[in-house]
Amino acid sequence: MHSIKFLHQDIHDQDSLQGMVSELMSQMGLDEKIGQMSQLCGGGGWVPDHLAAAIRSGQVGSVLNEVDLDTVNELQRIAVEESRLGIPLLNGRDVIHGFKTILPIPLGQAASWDPVIVSEGARISAVEAASSGVNWTFAPMIDITRDPRWGRIAESLGEDPYLCGVLGVAMTKGFQGTDLAENGSIAACAKHFAGYGTAEGGRDYNTANIPENEMRNVHLRPFKDLVDANVATFMSAFCDLNGVPASGNSWLMDQVLRQEWGYEGFVVSDWESIIEMSVHGFTGDDEEAALEAVNAGIDMEMASSTYRDHLENLVAEGKVDLEHIDRMVVRILTLKFKLGLFRDPYTDIENFPDLLNEAHLQIAKEAATKSCVLLKNDNKTLPLSISGLDSVAVIGPLADDGYEQLGTWVFDGEAEHSITIKNAIESLVGSNVTVNYSRGLDGTRCKHHEGFGHAIDAAYQSDAIVLVLGEESFMSGEAHSRANIDLPGHQEALIHALAETGKPITLVIMAGRPLTLENIVDKVDSILYAWHPGTMGGPAIADLLFGLESPSGKLPVTFPKMVGQVPIYYSHKNTGRPPSAESCIQMDDVPARAAQTSLGMASFHLDAGYTPLYPFGHGLSYGEFHYVKITTSKSNISLGQSIDIAVDLINTGERQAEEVVQLYVRDLVGNVTRPVKELKGFRRVKLNPGQRERVSFSIHTDDLAFYNRDMKLVTEPGQFHAWIGGNSDAPLWAEFEVHE
Ligand code: GLC
Repeated sequence: MHSIKFLHQDIHDQDSLQGMVSELMSQMGLDEKIGQMSQLCGGGGWVPDHLAAAIRSGQVGSVLNEVDLDTVNELQRIAVEESRLGIPLLNGRDVIHGFKTILPIPLGQAASWDPVIVSEGARISAVEAASSGVNWTFAPMIDITRDPRWGRIAESLGEDPYLCGVLGVAMTKGFQGTDLAENGSIAACAKHFAGYGTAEGGRDYNTANIPENEMRNVHLRPFKDLVDANVATFMSAFCDLNGVPASGNSWLMDQVLRQEWGYEGFVVSDWESIIEMSVHGFTGDDEEAALEAVNAGIDMEMASSTYRDHLENLVAEGKVDLEHIDRMVVRILTLKFKLGLFRDPYTDIENFPDLLNEAHLQIAKEAATKSCVLLKNDNKTLPLSISGLDSVAVIGPLADDGYEQLGTWVFDGEAEHSITIKNAIESLVGSNVTVNYSRGLDGTRCKHHEGFGHAIDAAYQSDAIVLVLGEESFMSGEAHSRANIDLPGHQEALIHALAETGKPITLVIMAGRPLTLENIVDKVDSILYAWHPGTMGGPAIADLLFGLESPSGKLPVTFPKMVGQVPIYYSHKNTGRPPSAESCIQMDDVPARAAQTSLGMASFHLDAGYTPLYPFGHGLSYGEFHYVKITTSKSNISLGQSIDIAVDLINTGERQAEEVVQLYVRDLVGNVTRPVKELKGFRRVKLNPGQRERVSFSIHTDDLAFYNRDMKLVTEPGQFHAWIGGNSDAPLWAEFEVHE
C-alpha cells in the first residue's frame, strides 16, 4: 500500500529518491529487510504456493526465470497488494544475446567491433524482455578470457580489456537506456566479478589464481568501465580467486568495488554461489557462508536461502551489523525506485512493440552481418556470383539447423523463428542458381560417413561448395568446456573428402569459441567464421557469401594453431627471450642429436612456433585496404597532454568495404613489465574503391596508465611505440616520448 504514497514523488530527484527510500526503510522490520536481500526462482508460468507465501510475508524481494506475463503480474500483485509494505519485485532473466529475437552470441557481437550495433541489439533485447515482465538482466558478461577451451568464452566479449570495456558499456547502455524508469529499459548486471575467465585448464568453475597486478591491469578494467557507465548491478563469480571464493571476497566486493570505485549499485550472488563456499571448503556450513558473504558485501542471495535462514541470528549475535544490512537494502530499494516499480509495478503488453518485429529482425541481421569474420579468401573465391553460377552445393549438418545457429544461453528464443543458411541462399538466388543440399553428416558429432556419398555427389553436380560446419550450441556456454577444440566428430574428414572433388570450397563455421583449424585450413579456399549468428544468421551469411554485403568483422580473440598453445593472446609480455622467426626452429628441421643449446633459446614451441593461426583483430573484407603514412602530432608530450596518431587508409579494391582500423600502443619500459601491445582505439571506416581517408586517434597520457608494483595507477615517462592497422600484427608503427 505504501507504493501509493510514493506515486507522486520524483524518482529522478536524488533528494526525493533518498527520502522515499529512507521513509520505507524506517518502517521495515529486520525480517523484511532480509527479504529484500533474497531472490527465489519463479515457477515458470505459475505461482508456487511457497513463493506466494514468501512474497506475501515479505521474505522475498526478487524472483528470476519467470517470463509468463500473467504470472509476473500476479507475483507483483501479491507483493504490492498482499504484503505489509507493498514493495514490488525485481524480476531477473538471462537476456544474454536476445530475448525472442536472438542476436549473435556475445563473442560474435564482439567481432563486430561496433558499439552502436551492440547497443542497438541490447536495446531490442531489453524491450522484448520487458514486455514479458522482466526488469533486470544478468548481462553483460565481461570476464576476460584467453582460453578457448572455456565454454563461457562464448558469452564473453573477448580477450582484450579495452574492447570488452567499450562493448560492455555499449551493451549496458542498450539495456538501461537513458532512464531506467523508461518503458523497455531494464537493469543490467556486470558479471562475473571477478577473474572467472582464468579458470584453470579452461575447465568451468575451476580455480582462478591471478596476481593482484594482473587483476588490476587486465581483469578489473572492464568492470570499472561499467561502474563509470552506471551499470545497475554486479554479480559475484563462482570461482575461488586466489584462495578466497569471489562470493566471500571482501577485497573484491568492498576494497575494490566500494572503497576504491565508490560503486553504489548492489551485488547479487551467482546461483547458489554462497552455499558453494562450503563446497569450496572456505566455510563450514550455510550459516558461516551467509556470514562471509554478507560481510564481504554480497547484497542479494540468488536461489539459496542462507540469508533468510541465518541473517537474523547473525545480527542478534552481533556478527553482522544492522547498519551494514541497511546499506545493502537501501541499494536494492533504490534500484526498484529508479526502475519506476513503485509508480507502476505491472507490465501492460499494449505498451510494447511485437516480438520479432521487422525492425528487431533487421538489427539482428545487421549484427550478424558485422559479426562474421572472413578468415581467408584464396583466389577471391568469395563473393560468389549469382550470375556466374549455375549451381551451388550447400552441405553440412549446420546448414539448415535453426536451433543450433542460435547458440548458447538462449532461454526464450525459438528455432522456428530462425532463417537458416540453406533457406536464405535459396531465397536469395531464386531460380537463377540451383541449390544442391546435403547434410553430409547426421550431426557435428557424427562419426560414420554414410552421408558422404550424397554430399560428394552434390558437390560434383555444382560449380561451388558452401560447407557449413562447427559446434552444436551446447558445446559452449556454462559448464561446457572442451579439451580438444578441433571441429567435433568427423567434420574434418568431410572436408578432406569434398576437397578431393576439386570444387572451390567456402567453409562457414558456426561455433561458440575459436576452433583449431590447422588440419583443414589448407583444404578450403575461404573461411567465414559466423560464431553462432542468431535468428537472422542465414540472411546475413547469404548476403556476405554472394557479395550483397562485404565481411567486416575482426577477431576479438586469438585463434591458436593447436590447443597446446593456449593461453595465447596478442597483449602478452615480451619475456627475457622473445621469439623471432630466426630464433625458432621447427621440430622437424632439428638435426639428429642436436646439442641442448643449439636450438633457438627463446620462448616458443618446437612443434608450433610462437604465432597463432590468426591474430587478435584479424579479418578480411572484399576491399583491399592499405595503411600508409603513419604520423604523430608531436614527437614527445608531457604528462597530462594528448598526442594525435594518424594514418592514411586506402581501399585499392573494386568494392566498397568497411575496415576496423585499430590503434595499439606499447610502453617500452615500466615499473612492472608491460605487454608488447595494447589496444587503445579502433574505428570502423567505410571506403569506396580508390578512396583514401586520413584516420586519426587522440591518446591522452591518462590512456597509458597502468597499475605499478605498489598498485598505484600511474603513467610513467618514457618511450612508447604505436601501431595502426587492420589487426594486432599491424606492421606500420611510430614512436613518441612522454616526459614529466
Ligand atoms: C548461472 C550463471 C550466471 C547466470 C545465473 C542465473 O549459473 O553463472 O551467469 O546469470 O546462473 O541464471
